[in-house]
Amino acid sequence: MKEILKNNKELKFYIHTFGCQMNENDSERIAGILTAAGAKKSDSPEKSDLIIVNTCAVREKAEEKLSSYLGNLASLKKGKKVYIGVVGCVAQLHQSKLLDKKPFIDFVLGPDNYHQLTHIIHSNSKEKFISTDWSQELDESLHKLALRKSNISAYVTIMEGCNNYCSYCIVPFTRGREKFRLKHNIFREVQDLASRGYKEIFLLGQNVNSYKDPKTGEGFSSLLKETNCFNGIEWIRFITSHPKNFSKDTASIMKESEKVCHQLHLPIQSGSSSVLKRMNRGYTREEYLKKITFIRDLMPDISLSTDIIVGFPGETEEEFQETLSLLREIRYTNIFSFRYSPRPLTTASQEKDTVSLEEKRRRLLEVQKLQKNIQIELNKTFIGRVLKVLCSGKSKKDSHIFTGRTDGHQVANFKSQKNVTDQFVDVQISSCGPYSLFGEAD
Ligand code: 5AD
Ligand code: SF4
Repeated sequence: MKEILKNNKELKFYIHTFGCQMNENDSERIAGILTAAGAKKSDSPEKSDLIIVNTCAVREKAEEKLSSYLGNLASLKKGKKVYIGVVGCVAQLHQSKLLDKKPFIDFVLGPDNYHQLTHIIHSNSKEKFISTDWSQELDESLHKLALRKSNISAYVTIMEGCNNYCSYCIVPFTRGREKFRLKHNIFREVQDLASRGYKEIFLLGQNVNSYKDPKTGEGFSSLLKETNCFNGIEWIRFITSHPKNFSKDTASIMKESEKVCHQLHLPIQSGSSSVLKRMNRGYTREEYLKKITFIRDLMPDISLSTDIIVGFPGETEEEFQETLSLLREIRYTNIFSFRYSPRPLTTASQEKDTVSLEEKRRRLLEVQKLQKNIQIELNKTFIGRVLKVLCSGKSKKDSHIFTGRTDGHQVANFKSQKNVTDQFVDVQISSCGPYSLFGEAD
């Protein structure tokens, strides 16, 4: 790649991201490293010299999508010098096997190895490159460089990795053990974002509630409380919380702190205590419900969301019905629901996958149908109300309509006489669908 830089030609790079907020955040950091090294971000793989695919391994489907995306990239290499790198969770999982299977890939980097990109783009070597080592600490320089997509909302990593070993989950194997950033460094980043005009921050980690400052041992609640003190930041959110670690203390801080949105993503996974036990989640249905009651007593306006897995090995019809009854009882604002997918290295993958694909599909449809009706009912209650919305831009479907998120993190599409992109705006809600609200800016 050095020859491209040497010929005074600007190295153009393109990043394709699969996966969650964690992966989106990693891609922003990768873009930052490459930009600092003299490369330029491009908006299409066809126009790029370097293509990076940032991967997710959490479900089989993500790996299948990756495989088909890589198939398309292979043809781009014909007759053109293009470098292709696979990074992230699949890279960590399959390592050199990826290079054996897909010989057109030039390098493979695990989630702790993005700093190697500078070396890769300045190298003359034609050798394939692999780096999948774990590091003990988070690399602070990467946070500073992040090239963020939004001018107004930012992810701020507070921790990475996971020690929980839920029996179905590959993350502890691809992301490694929990690592925490120093509070001092987190706050330096928040201060910098505030001074650049950012209004909303998401404190990000696989399990934010287990956060501990490596120096002082201070936990998540005090971090959240202090984050409230930055002038300019108006909305604070955090993701993801583990129900076993989400404390009453954190709920109280949410209530007290003016800027912390009354919105909580608390993945339950199943409504059945016996399934939760087999999933190694560390809480029962009853304990989870008790926490929800506590949270709702403190903040009656809380907007709750969750993750659900259907068809976990051995899940009986009765156990599945418990998930449906839990959804009826809690009435989440939003859910993310998945068919169980056996993942390598996990303990659940050694169990017989007893629920047929057809049955998993049926259960997923049933969950989604029930939840859709709940959301229609809940969304109707917003009609006639004025909600504060942070506008992220024009709607992709209709350029006359703007889109944004409410305090409860619901999608709101709305008409506006003026361009309100990247601004807070009051929206009068006039109608709704199951997945979004609709209205007009005041
Ligand atoms: N199969 C299906 N869903 C899974 N998730 C994690 N691992 C699996 C798996 N093996 C879901 C969980 C988690 C979300 C990020 O992905 O619901 O909360
Ligand atoms: Fe996976 Fe469980 Fe860790 Fe979440 S808490 S990342 S589901 S192992």
